[in-house]
Amino acid sequence: MRTTVGIIGAGPAGLLLARLLHNAGIDSVVLESRDRAYVEQRQRAGILEQGTVDVLRAAGAGERMDREGLRHDGIELRYDRKRHRVDFPALTGGRSVTVYAQTEVCKDLIALQLKEGGPLLFEAEALAVEGADTDSPRIRFRHEGREDVLDCDYVVGCDGSWGVARKAIPSELVRVFERTYPFGWLGILADVPPSHDELVYARHDRGFALLSMRSPSVSRLYLQVPEGTDAAEWGDEEIWDELERRFETDDDWTLERGPITQKSVTPMRSYVHEPMRHGRLFLAGDAAHIVPPTGAKGLNLAVGDVVTFAGALTYQKETGSAELLDAYSETCLRRVWQAERFSYDMTTLLHRAPDATPFEDRLQIARLERLASSEAAETDLAEGYTGFPFG
Ligand code: APR
Ligand code: PHB
Repeated sequence: MRTTVGIIGAGPAGLLLARLLHNAGIDSVVLESRDRAYVEQRQRAGILEQGTVDVLRAAGAGERMDREGLRHDGIELRYDRKRHRVDFPALTGGRSVTVYAQTEVCKDLIALQLKEGGPLLFEAEALAVEGADTDSPRIRFRHEGREDVLDCDYVVGCDGSWGVARKAIPSELVRVFERTYPFGWLGILADVPPSHDELVYARHDRGFALLSMRSPSVSRLYLQVPEGTDAAEWGDEEIWDELERRFETDDDWTLERGPITQKSVTPMRSYVHEPMRHGRLFLAGDAAHIVPPTGAKGLNLAVGDVVTFAGALTYQKETGSAELLDAYSETCLRRVWQAERFSYDMTTLLHRAPDATPFEDRLQIARLERLASSEAAETDLAEGYTGFPFG
């Protein structure tokens, strides 16, 4: 088999890249190790930056998002039983975000790819990328019990945080920047209308809590839990009781309860792999960087990477110049580090570390009071939340 761009992984990065290349008249093959049902059910965050919405729409993948996505013009910060709303359009010259689950983005892109795009092979596991620094890189993969080779002009590793693509970059050229956090998120899906019409980020002495949603009838909620917690340790009523405590306010706001349909724990990590390119091998999305979920930057970062790659390859095709491809890593990393900073700031603003001192508790409250009283501070948060420009 041979193709122009071999794409490893059919998460949002790989799927959107295949779509962008298809629209630019560039052929590709996507190899995905899991089956379709698994990819379409994997629960992830659900906040699309304005720029992500624009890209999906322009790529012809925005039809259901435009119908079912919920436009959000702000978030609420909750601390010390108080509530403070951050108004995005007012602070950013009109920008907002859209609540539309990553699983839905993947379903839409898979349907489009199977209907109009190039090959998308499920249960096709990439084993290794070879010849990354030659003009004809290859992906060795296993599909239907057989080993095969995909010859490519370019390979893009969109294979997530445990992928194989980045292993093809010689270790002496690589620098990894990493931080783990001593807590995770226990996330639930519940069949109950969200108790607030915007997301609520709560800082509490017992730990962080987040109220989000999937639709007008399905709530998505999270609790900060100690690192290594097993979701099965938490009973349903215990989860609701704890959420209620962390969201408590001085007014008459109440948290509606409903049947919990899904429960899982997400670990928290910051991770950046530099460089994001070696020869004709490019890394995109979680394969190159991880952010803690506070602020929901993961998917949006993946979109920025593949938009940059598709633009650079199109430029190369049109002008013969590899200038933008050569600059891929530096271009992406500028935005990646801004999102890393933003996600780290949001995480440390709102979570309580197990060894937090009273001094640090007071500092968190002071940072939140500053956000609630200074338009400059609030604008910084609103700009980061609604997203940094691509490229
Ligand atoms: N061969 C083929 N496919 C692979 C391999 C492999 N060796 N290894 C991993 N994959 C697949 C995974 O099964 C997965 O479907 O690569 C895909 C990677 O997808 P994601 O993990 O969703 O990563 P990405 O597309 O970069 O999307 C980033 O995902 O983790 C969230 O918060 C993050 O929202 C962000 C988004
Ligand atoms: C989600 O809805 O899953 C979500 C929303 C906002 C975040 C993280 C996750 O910051």
